[in-house]
Amino acid sequence: MAGKLTLIVGPMYSGKTTELLSYVEIYRLGKKKTVVFKPSLDSRYGISVVKTHAGLEVEAVALERAQDMPKYVEYPVDAVFVDEVQFFDKDLVKVVREFLDKNINVFCAGLDMTFKQNPFETTTLLMALANEIIKKRAVCNVCGEYNATLTYKLVQDDAEIDVGGKEKYIAVCRDCYNKLNASKNV
Ligand code: ADP
Ligand code: TMP
Ligand code: MG
Ligand code: ZN
Repeated sequence: MAGKLTLIVGPMYSGKTTELLSYVEIYRLGKKKTVVFKPSLDSRYGISVVKTHAGLEVEAVALERAQDMPKYVEYPVDAVFVDEVQFFDKDLVKVVREFLDKNINVFCAGLDMTFKQNPFETTTLLMALANEIIKKRAVCNVCGEYNATLTYKLVQDDAEIDVGGKEKYIAVCRDCYNKLNASKNV
């Protein structure tokens, strides 16, 4: 039977990587074969880790290009996991489709939008292909409600591809996002 694509999306800190790793654990508890990928971006090519904001981590293959993924998948494999899909090129969609056609389940996690609310293209394309989309939310860093769907960039830097954590980004709800932007522009 063809594999299924599960896509986990949301703002930063919404638990995307945590949920992805919980699926890795389920497969590993069942002694199933898994491969975990992440984009290497500017870090060096090679074995790396996928890590949550709470510190949980799993070994992963860090790649620059999605098209290299099949080289790291020794058949038979039960599931392939990809974190930070927003940083992979569009070839990821083709590669995922090939895995599904080889009866491999695929689990992907990534940001749906940049801090400017622009969609990340690769994530959007995967949404079209997904069998299931899990949309996560975070706790709003301003009002404390569990309704944060957006990420706000604290530093004055326009780059929409800019790796970082708490020093640069917070999760916010739409109301607080708009208030923060309004106060910045006065
Ligand atoms: P993501 O991959 O979506 O950025 P992670 O799975 O890496 O998220 O991290 C989720 C963890 O982040 C939570 O379990 C919690 O410990 C921590 N965290 C920090 N700030 C927040 C927040 N504003 N809302 C929810 N969780 C937060
Ligand atoms: P996270 O979703 O696991 O928290 O990781 C998101 C990564 O994406 C983090 O390194 C910051 C980066 N990022 C951007 O490059 N551009 C953006 O617009 C946002 C919101 C995050
Ligand atoms: Mg993450
Ligand atoms: Zn809020």
